[in-house]
Parts: sequence; structure tokens; C-alpha cells
Amino acid sequence: MDCYTILKKEWDRWVGNIHNLLVYTIILLLPRPYEKCMCRKHYLNWYYNTNTEGDSPSKIRLEKFAQRGEPPHRNFPQNLKSKIQNRDMANKTLGLSTQLYDYLLSVSLREPEILTKLRQETAQLPMGKMQIAPEQGQFMALLVQLMAAKKTLEIGVFTGYSTLVVALALPKDGKIVACDVSEEYTAIARRYWQQADVDHKIDLQIAPALETLDGLITAGSSDSFDFAFIDADKSNYDGYYERALQLVRPGGLIAIDNVLWSGQVADPQVKDNRTEKIRALNQKLHNDQRINLSLVPIADGLTLAVKHP
Ligand SMILES: C[S@@+](CC[C@H](N)C(=O)[O-])C[C@H]1O[C@@H](n2cnc3c(N)ncnc32)[C@H](O)[C@@H]1O
Repeated sequence: MDCYTILKKEWDRWVGNIHNLLVYTIILLLPRPYEKCMCRKHYLNWYYNTNTEGDSPSKIRLEKFAQRGEPPHRNFPQNLKSKIQNRDMANKTLGLSTQLYDYLLSVSLREPEILTKLRQETAQLPMGKMQIAPEQGQFMALLVQLMAAKKTLEIGVFTGYSTLVVALALPKDGKIVACDVSEEYTAIARRYWQQADVDHKIDLQIAPALETLDGLITAGSSDSFDFAFIDADKSNYDGYYERALQLVRPGGLIAIDNVLWSGQVADPQVKDNRTEKIRALNQKLHNDQRINLSLVPIADGLTLAVKHP
């Protein structure tokens, strides 16, 4: 290569770099239209509505976007896009790379076939991501066995995965009071409980869970449950916790799901009702002298609270 060619190459490289620098500077200096004219709240509303536990009025209209995992606007802010992707991952343990998550499952998950089938069927539903992660299910089964639990509470059944996990871990005479408001989702649950031959252990109550829990307290079931799992609508989490605390026996365990809420709880910019409710409950649990606690960063965050004797 002669001297001229080398100089020409160097020159081209510098011109290229300066060109790129100019372009990036112009892009950075340009006003960002979405910050000015797009309603951030609208998009956050869309985002939360597509991830809700109950049916929201806008759910059906927005479901097609949720199914695609795409926001309804191509200029959707990138930082919120990544939050959606994270939110979509809430039924896997947060913060792990795909490679590490797959490894974790490959060396630890022992999911019975019936649970795998239920997970596959639920994954086809638009709201399928509400189901707990399989590694969380296995962890809960281990806890229930460790405590030799016999009587448990399930608040938020959906298609029945967590209930089935616990039912399989309970002894033959074990009992679960399971609360949900949806006939549609729990019809799937019932089908799998029957197939797994654990339906006799499960007393499914279709009613707002607060009513069912209050009914149990009135009927004299306080201090009688070994374990309670809270995974229904987040706005009532505090009410579920207070009732569960009354219903579990001293030394009994309450497991509260989604306490990390895809990281939203740690983002001061997120101020929607459900995030605030989870934040407030996390804070309350931290100071609550009636329990011992541990926040386990499995799946979407699972707080374990043991009732003091
Ligand atoms: C996150 S899902 C539960 C997931 C389930 N634990 C699993 O393993 O698949 C929440 C469930 O709570 C139910 N739910 C919402 N509001 C409720 C309420 N007020 N009372 C009882 N259940 C409610 C929904 O119908 C939904 O099935």
C-alpha cells in the first residue's frame, strides 16, 4: 500500500467519525416529541391495564397490543418499552439473563408433567403472564413440605398453578381454601385439579376474597391455617395480609407475591395505585413486629412472613 492510499484511508476514517459525531449531536439536541406531546400517563395506564389481575374496562381493546408485547404507538418511549419487557418477564425470576435463567431451570426444576401442561395451556391466554414462575412454585412446595402444612389458603387462583403446586405437596388429608372471582379462569384450574386427583383437597370459593376471608374469621377459623399465599388484586393486598395474619396459626407462614413488581416499586417515577399499594405494604411489613420476614428475590419477589407466637 502506498503512502497516498494510507493517508486517504486515514482521512476517510476521520471524516466518517466527525460525520457520526455531528449526527449524534444533532439527534441529542433535537426536541423529543414524545416528552412534549405524548401523554406519559396514558401509556403507563395502557401498560398497567395490560398487566392487571382483574378485567379492566380497556383490557379487551388493548389486549391485541399486549399479545404482541408492543405498545400502541411506534414512538413509545424506549425507557418505558424496556419496562414493559421487564413486566412481561414477571413470571420468571427477575434480573437474570436468559442464559442464567435457563441454567437455573436446567439444574433445579423438577416440574411434574401435569404442571408443565397447565403452564403451556395458560401461556396461550392473553393474561397468561399472571401465572407464577415454575421455580417459585417448586420453592413454595418445598416450604409447605418443610412446615408439614395441612391447611392452607390461596388468595388468587387464576388457572390454578400455585394451588396445584401446593395441593400436590400437601398430605392426603390436606385442605386448601382457594379464593378467586373468575369462573372462567378457575374452570381451567378445576380441570387440572381433577386430572391430578387433588380436587378433593381444594375448596374453591368464587367470591371477592375479602368476603371469603371475613367469612372464615366469623366462622371461627382464626389461628388455624399453616400457610397462606397472597396473589390476587394488588389494591387489596393490605386487607388480604391482615386477614391472613389472623387466619394463620402462630408460627404459620404467609407468602406474598409480586412484592418487587418488576422493579416498579423502586422507581420513584411510578406512582400508580397498585405500585403505591405494594410499596406501602412492603414498608409496613418491614416495621411489623407481629412477624419475622424475608423478601426472597425469586420470580417477581416473594415476601415470606412468619407469624410470631
Ligand atoms: C395473579 S393471578 C393469580 C395467579 C395464580 N396464583 C397462579 O399461580 O396462576 C390473580 C387472580 O386474582 C383474581 N382476583 C382478582 N381480584 C380478586 C378479588 N377481589 N377476589 C378474589 N380473586 C381476585 C383474578 O381473577 C386472578 O385469577
